Amino acid sequence: MNFISVLTSLLCWTSSQVLPAGLTVSPSRSQFFEGTSVSLSCEEDNSSAGWTVRRNTTRRTRTQCDEWGTSAGSTCNITPMLTDDTGVYWCESREGAASSSIQLTVSGKIRLWS
Ligand SMILES: *[C@@H]1O[C@H](CO)[C@@H](O)[C@H](O)[C@H]1NC(C)=O
Ligand SMILES: *[C@@H]1O[C@H](CO)[C@@H](O)[C@H](O)[C@H]1NC(C)=O
Repeated sequence: MNFISVLTSLLCWTSSQVLPAGLTVSPSRSQFFEGTSVSLSCEEDNSSAGWTVRRNTTRRTRTQCDEWGTSAGSTCNITPMLTDDTGVYWCESREGAASSSIQLTVSGKIRLWS
């Protein structure tokens, strides 16, 4: 295999990984490049339960969407993503119930010709 086919199969593998239920990530993947966008939705579509997306990063823990994204109901958008957005994300209800968490990794842009 040459370099390009190794790279292609690696990209196909990372984008086909199945994410656990609870928090829905769109596009459905766990690896992102800096500058791209992501939409995080809490599956439970029940606004009275007050589901919000929270995250832990290396800098801060348990911060909620309003501090690093744009929230719309139980959906949170990050536009654009930065490498500092790498962390563990989950949904939490007002009562403190938490969904399973998802690790999202944001890589710097690949600079082929620098
Ligand atoms: C929505 O959430 C509230 C509070 O947790 C609960 O009492 C209610 O039954 C839920 N409704 C639905 C349709 O899931
Ligand atoms: C987030 O960080 C807090 C405080 O360190 C920790 O208690 C919690 O388990 C972490 N949550 C996840 C989903 O990693």
